[in-house]
Amino acid sequence: MSKEIRVWDPLIRIFHWSLVLAFSIGYLSGDEESNLHIYSGYAVLGLITFRVLWGVVGTRYARFSNFVHAPNIVIQHLKALFKKEQKHYVGHNPAGGWMVVAMLITLFVVTISGLKLYAIEEGLGPLAGNSQVPLIMSSAYADDDKHDKNENGKDEGAEEFWEEIHEVSSDFMVLLILLHITGVIVSGRLQNEHLIKAMFTGKKIR
Ligand code: HEM
Ligand code: HEM
Repeated sequence: MSKEIRVWDPLIRIFHWSLVLAFSIGYLSGDEESNLHIYSGYAVLGLITFRVLWGVVGTRYARFSNFVHAPNIVIQHLKALFKKEQKHYVGHNPAGGWMVVAMLITLFVVTISGLKLYAIEEGLGPLAGNSQVPLIMSSAYADDDKHDKNENGKDEGAEEFWEEIHEVSSDFMVLLILLHITGVIVSGRLQNEHLIKAMFTGKKIR
């Protein structure tokens, strides 16, 4: 008998589709430094902060403790996937759970490096006034030429460093998103489930 289960609460669904929108705007507006880029970046930072808190105090399937499994469980799940023998998970499956964690960490790196860049280039944002390269990386930047100040008084070595981190982490995030969408489509087909529809309605039919 099929049964309807409420999986994704309204906040998770609003979080998901707002993140898709904010990240897309941020990525597409990255090449020119516009207010739109900065606002979408702040929106992403706000959304991931909410998601981390909701992962601790949120509803059952939103909590990290519900979907972050030990590595051996993830390997077992991936092996069983193609034999169609996998255990059914109502919330995120073990591979999807780690993908959520990887996306949140990457988005954190993207937004913090963006804030650093904003502080160095414009002297604006919450990190303005603290625009150093992290101590651990400082040996790579020990070369004095790298710390030349340009005509605006910016530290060019630090600017280059954070620009690189910002760009590489944004592109890495796009790779994760492509894997995420592939994972959603493949596991939905294998399990005969409407996962995408569930991210709109909040419900799964079993
Ligand atoms: C910018 C693009 C995207 C980002 C950053 C993103 C991020 C995420 C995150 C963080 C989650 C975890 C939800 C939670 O527990 O909080 C998630 C889940 C999910 N996303 Fe996306 N997503 C993106 C695009 C998409 C697209 C285009 C689709 C539809 C084709 C999609 C379908 C889903 C589904 C179905 C889930 C639930 C997975 C499950 O059932 O375990 N996502 N996504
Ligand atoms: C998910 C959010 C974000 C994405 C996807 C993103 C993506 C990008 C991309 C692709 C670039 C071009 C990199 C390059 O060519 O070197 C860029 C540049 C930049 N981003 Fe972001 N960014 C995000 C958030 C932020 C935030 C939160 C801030 C600061 C508040 C920020 C500040 C900047 C600055 C100052 C530049 C340099 C623009 C320039 O001088 O051309 N970004 N971003």
